[in-house]
Amino acid sequence: MSNVAQADIYTAPEDFVAKAHIDAAGYASMYEASVADPAAYWAEQAQRVDWIKPFTKVKDASFELGNVSIKWFEDGTLNVAANCVDRHLEIRGDQTAIIWEPDSPDTPAKHITYRVLHENVCRMANVLKAQGVTKGDRVVLYLPMIPEAAYAMLACARLGAIHSIVFAGFSPDALADRINGCGAKVVITSDEAPRGGRKTALKSNTDQALNHCDDHVKCLVVKHTGGQTTWVAGRDIDLNAEMANAGTDCPAVEVGAEDPLFILYTSGSTGKPKGVVHTSGGYLVYAAMTHLYTFDYHDGDVFWCTADVGWVTGHSYIIYGPLANGATTVMFEGVPTYPDAGRFWEVCAKHKVNQFYTAPTAIRALMGKGAEWVEKHDLSSLRLLGSVGEPINPEAWNWYNEHVGKGRCPIVDTFWQTETGGHLITPLPGAIPQKPGSATKPFFGVTPVILDPNTAEVQSETKAEGVLCIKDSWPGQMRTLWGDHERFEEAYFTQYPGYYFTGDGCRRDDDGYYWITGRVDDVINVSGHRMGTAEVESALVAHARVAEAAVVGYPHDIKGQGIYAYVTLMNDTQPSEELRKELVKWVRSEIGPIASPDLIQWAPGLPKTRSGKIMRRILRKIAENDYAALGDTSTLADPSVVDDLIENRMNRA
Ligand code: WT7
Repeated sequence: MSNVAQADIYTAPEDFVAKAHIDAAGYASMYEASVADPAAYWAEQAQRVDWIKPFTKVKDASFELGNVSIKWFEDGTLNVAANCVDRHLEIRGDQTAIIWEPDSPDTPAKHITYRVLHENVCRMANVLKAQGVTKGDRVVLYLPMIPEAAYAMLACARLGAIHSIVFAGFSPDALADRINGCGAKVVITSDEAPRGGRKTALKSNTDQALNHCDDHVKCLVVKHTGGQTTWVAGRDIDLNAEMANAGTDCPAVEVGAEDPLFILYTSGSTGKPKGVVHTSGGYLVYAAMTHLYTFDYHDGDVFWCTADVGWVTGHSYIIYGPLANGATTVMFEGVPTYPDAGRFWEVCAKHKVNQFYTAPTAIRALMGKGAEWVEKHDLSSLRLLGSVGEPINPEAWNWYNEHVGKGRCPIVDTFWQTETGGHLITPLPGAIPQKPGSATKPFFGVTPVILDPNTAEVQSETKAEGVLCIKDSWPGQMRTLWGDHERFEEAYFTQYPGYYFTGDGCRRDDDGYYWITGRVDDVINVSGHRMGTAEVESALVAHARVAEAAVVGYPHDIKGQGIYAYVTLMNDTQPSEELRKELVKWVRSEIGPIASPDLIQWAPGLPKTRSGKIMRRILRKIAENDYAALGDTSTLADPSVVDDLIENRMNRA
């Protein structure tokens, strides 16, 4: 049976639908119930989690400006780690919880059973406890994709401590900001992070970061590659040695449903990154449920999400969702192209992966290397494919469907955000036919609305286009920004009062399918990673030779969007290739490699209105090489700067 195509509508094969948790009729009735009476619906769904003290209140949420408050299951108590580990011991203690696949295929994979996971989580929790970490304390994780990252997340959850993971690709400065931003007591890192055969010196980066942090911050170090050199006595602690000596039992601390589980920094359209806060009860219910239904996960399946735990995708779909469901989850340290472009498929074959979840940027990169890398491997275990992070272009969708899924695996294009905790709009594979490029329909309990961007009017016709908002809360929704509730309201609830504003543009077709058209704010999406143009700009202007900078996105074949920077140099500075390279290096060291500008154009002046506002619309058009239709430039203070920018544009594709 194959994924049946009809006028670009693909329906899952019959035998898939027959076994699926949710079919078309089930989706319709369950969706209806979820929005008609959310309290009754979610009270029932929340039973998939073990509560210590059952909740009596289900939902208390207001999107009203000045009074935004979101609470789910608020008087219930639970422990997230106990839900992800302990409760499985009795029936699946010897089942593999985590398959760890190392960077190098020559290093053996590790199969960590639920029992061993429990032991290691307890050991690590006891080490943290010995360092004085208790409920509500913050712990920063700056780690490679190694089992210790999972242990550390769950050890925090076990103690009721709040983890904040910093992606290992971020710079020491970015790490220091995040340690200070949440007032962390402890940082957990490792000597080095191997990726694609290269190593990032995480401990050295942490040393640099800690120079800018409180002296009391302790540093727990995992010995991973053995490449460690520096050691600060009294501050640095050998985590392997401590774990070896620690007890294998550690009571799980009872926390309130609304106690924070983690903070995760993400880029916004202005200012510094925002510390998104997720709490314990609602997040876990939502992560578990979306993992089960979106991926049609069944007991015994091997699930692989290729993300890094430094991003929300890794939180929800490598750790919390799969483990809450008692799944076997794959944790991959490496990259898709090392040692060759067949690595993903080699790993799928080796571990008999059933559901495979990755980003369009990876698919495009592998597509470019040719289908022969896929054909070499036995992918018969695959039953479902997923996509996340940015809109998937139909060419990539078709290649994924044809070469990886062999036309028999439904593809779930999952739209969601760091802020949403789990999938918001996605096909449920047994229920909703797929259209390449569309995230299709809302998940249970999610109420999308499309508003006119100018009038904020709700577009009630089925066929509509505008900005995407959500009308009512769902349990996985973020609750606040760490230490800044005002900014939370400002960023998400002010522009379209009464609604949660996603920041995305969206189209709804005649069938009621949603098509995400991309960010409508100053956030760009580089290889599925979010980057605020303002962040890159402030890094650039922090360089002594830079007077002014404006950053926009432009279409990039592999990355989706690339980073295009217009830079005005100080009067006494001459542009040069060396300086261009130096600025790229500078941004990498200020933020991290993911923020490296792809193109830097020297701009003698930037197009500004008479009141001094940079007209980004024009800069975007020039960066897109679409300068013929710049629109109205009559309000510019000096229209001639535009001619110079066009003449010297960097993207001529
Ligand atoms: C932004 C969120 C949570 C997933 C990883 C990224 C874009 C995400 C899709 C999709 C079209 C998508 C949106 C969104 N996005 N998934 N399936 N189709 N766009 O999380 O870093 O918080 O970024 O990624 O623009 O707002 P994030």
